[in-house]
Parts: sequence; C-alpha cells; structure tokens
Amino acid sequence: MRILGIETSCDETAAAIVARDEAGRGSIVSNVVRSQIAEHVAYGGVVPELAARSHVTHLDAIIRRAMEEAGLGFEDIDAIAATAGPGLIGGVLVGLTTAKALAASLDKPLIAVNHLEAHALTARLTDGVAFPYLMLLVSGGHSQFVLVRGVGQYARWGTTIDDALGEAFDKVAKLLDLPMPGGPSVEREALKGDPKRLRFPRPLLGEDRLDFSFSGLKTAVRLKAEALAPLSDADVADICAGFQAAVTEIVARRATAALQRLGSDAPEIPPVLVVAGGVAANRAIGGALRDAADRAGARLVIPPAALCTDNGAMVAWAGAERLALGLVDGFDAPARARWPL
Ligand code: KG4
Ligand code: ZN
Repeated sequence: MRILGIETSCDETAAAIVARDEAGRGSIVSNVVRSQIAEHVAYGGVVPELAARSHVTHLDAIIRRAMEEAGLGFEDIDAIAATAGPGLIGGVLVGLTTAKALAASLDKPLIAVNHLEAHALTARLTDGVAFPYLMLLVSGGHSQFVLVRGVGQYARWGTTIDDALGEAFDKVAKLLDLPMPGGPSVEREALKGDPKRLRFPRPLLGEDRLDFSFSGLKTAVRLKAEALAPLSDADVADICAGFQAAVTEIVARRATAALQRLGSDAPEIPPVLVVAGGVAANRAIGGALRDAADRAGARLVIPPAALCTDNGAMVAWAGAERLALGLVDGFDAPARARWPL
C-alpha cells in the first residue's frame, strides 16, 4: 500500500509518500519538508497565526512536489493521513482539512494521525524494530519514556514535570541570542565550548523516578549568563557546552534507569531503546544514549536525523500502520491542540 502523509502541526509544512509491503516493511517513496523558520526568526519563536497562514500558502505545492518526486498520481495512493494533533491548532486544521478534502474527492480512506504516535512508530519504518519496545520521546513539546506495545498501545513510564527537553534547548538558545531552531544552534556552540568550565544543576537526578525537570536548569543558565554579561563568544560556547553536558547526563542516567526497570518489570520484552523526536538528532545525547544502552546490554535505535525532526514520512507511516489494522477515521475527526498518547 502507498500512503500520502501530511504534517502541519508546527513550523514544517511537509508531505511524503510511504509504501508498506505485505510483510509490514516500509519504504519512503518521497519526502518533502518546507521549514518556515525564516518567517518566524524576527519574532524569536514560532508565531501560531503566521504558521497557519504559511501552511495554507504552501501546502498544496508541497503535496504536488511529493507526488511528482514519487512519480505517482493520486489514483496510485491508497489512503491520506494527516497529523490531527497535538500541535498548534491553526496549522493542524490546515493539514487535516486538506487531507479530508483529498480523501473525499478521491474517495480514499482518511487517517487522523496522532503526531506523537508518528514519532513513536518512525523507528519501525527506518529500522523495522518489532513491538514491544521502550521509547524515549524527546521533542519540542514532549519528554517521556513510553512502553510501546503496539499501534495505539502506549504506557507512559515517565514524563517532564515542567519544560520539554527541546523547549529547554530553544529557550537557552533564545537567551543567548542564537539563531532558531535552538537545538542545532546550541549543539553547534557546545562543540566549540568547554563543558567543564560551568557546572549546571541536574534536577531530579537523585530521585528514583523516570521523570524529567528542565526548568530549574534553564533558570540556572539564565542566571549564569546574566552574571557573565557581556558575554564573549567563548562564554556562549561554554554555557552551551555546560548545558548540553547537564542534559546529556540527565537523559543518559534516566535511560539507564528505564532499561533497568524494563529488565525487572518486563523481562519478556527484549532490551531495545528507541529514541524519537527532534532532540534525538543531537549527537552528544545520541552518543551518551549509545553508551548507556551498551552498558545495559540493550540495542539502541535512533532514526536518521531528518526523520527525527518533523516530517511527512512519519505521518504517512503511522497512517500505513493504522490502515493495515483497519483503523480509519471519519470526516468528523477533530483537530486537537492536546492529544496525549
Ligand atoms: O520533533 P520536533 O521536530 O517537533 C516537535 O514535535 O516538537 O522537535 C523539535 C525540537 C525543537 O525544540 C528543536 O530545538 C529540537 O527538537 N532539536 C534539537 C536538535 N534538533 C532539533 N535539540 C537538540 N539538538 C539538536 N540537534
Ligand atoms: Zn514532532
């Protein structure tokens, strides 16, 4: 089967076509992503109203390009999938409504995809990992450990009690006047800096739980930046390096604890850790997670960076997984700003 996937929940306008064979293996036929970052830079963050308008302007052309790059016509598509939430509601409405219009006019099934489920299932497209698996989702809006038992079967083992990890990267970038998107900027600066010069707190790390807290760390970074002002280039790099070292240690230690819990609570589940969401593109965090997984005797799966950040292929793949189970949606499927897994 071939599925068209549409993603418009934040500041990427994206469309892709993904194929799924009878054995359940997926492949990307085309994958087109248009970032709106340049349109939001002047405001220091994504402006929801502008994002929605930009999706309206560009989505048709992005879908057309995805079809052209695939060399397919709409008659070759078996279903239309779109992110129906969670996300910025104006943008979600644009993508979901476009998908409904396509599905209605082509008389094809519609699949209203949960964006978090799309991140959670991406590793099955890129790696073919089998259910069940432990997943760490680290994106702009979420930081959580989830036991993924199957499509639609998720048990949350821990989450953030305040900011998401990607949000913490973005806020640190903003207070240091680094360009958007914040995560890659902080990672770039951190490479030049000394991670030992400035030590930042590791909130909650002493506690026996799988939750995260990043807001105190972000405040510590702000206070340090204010104390050092005016900041030299080396100060900025060292702050980024110190911040990234702190979050890397937090994430790796939590992953170790989560894998331990998997071994004791669910020994029948193979030790696999799948990492998903935009922050999974961070090489320092990926490297520390690899060490943690090695020490725990677990297999680590991180999709390629371009499929960790928002894209249409993950939405198309989630649609394919749902369609294979007969899970399709009616045209009354709502757009949701909030939609926990
Ligand atoms: O999954 P995603 O593209 O969108 C959401 O669903 O939120 O994640 C975006 C988040 C942003 O906060 C961005 O700064 C962060 O992922 N991010 C990174 C990196 N690339 C993207 N954070 C740290 N290092 C990176 N290389
Ligand atoms: Zn996302």
